[in-house]
Amino acid sequence: MQYDQALKVLEEADCLADRATVEAAIDRMAGVITASIGKKKPMIFCVMNGGLIFCGQLLTRLPFPLEVGYLHATRYGHETSGGDLEWKALFQADVEGRTVLLVDDILDEGVTLKALVDECLTRGAKKVLTAVLVNKQHERKVVPGYCADFTGLELPDRFVFGYGLDYEDMWRNAPGIYAVKGL
Ligand code: IMP
Ligand code: MG
Repeated sequence: MQYDQALKVLEEADCLADRATVEAAIDRMAGVITASIGKKKPMIFCVMNGGLIFCGQLLTRLPFPLEVGYLHATRYGHETSGGDLEWKALFQADVEGRTVLLVDDILDEGVTLKALVDECLTRGAKKVLTAVLVNKQHERKVVPGYCADFTGLELPDRFVFGYGLDYEDMWRNAPGIYAVKGL
């Protein structure tokens, strides 16, 4: 995307959640996550690339012993079966017997996140929990009613960017969550 076009995308976008709203959501989630797994010495995986900003900001709010790693897998095209993951990085940590928390930007259909959960369980994790900054509200979830264990914001079914989410590889750095005009 051209520089000028990228500026126009942000200018014309609708802000669905400003910085203060997003940070308040992350504060809230940190409290709930701490109460839930604060004594489990969890393995926390940032789901790249979208989870980068949310995970970073969440981690500094978690006041307990934990380990951090990352997973990077994307979906092949728009197949909806859970096996269609393309791994961009090798699975690095040993999760056997561990409590795992997967941190991602958004739960859209949930195919990606569910496949990552299944992979951790296959590798012997004792418990796998999920945290997403945004849940996209629609009826197309991979399993009806599928949701993350911890959700920051409920947003409408639009294409959003900012706080780690990209629009054509741009604006992961936008300081709020914005919906692309017309999408
Ligand atoms: P899912 O497998 O349908 O849940 O797709 C999840 C992935 O698609 C997310 O982790 C995002 O990387 C990407 N995605 C889904 N919706 C959006 C959006 O509105 N904006 C940016 N990325 C999105
Ligand atoms: Mg993603």
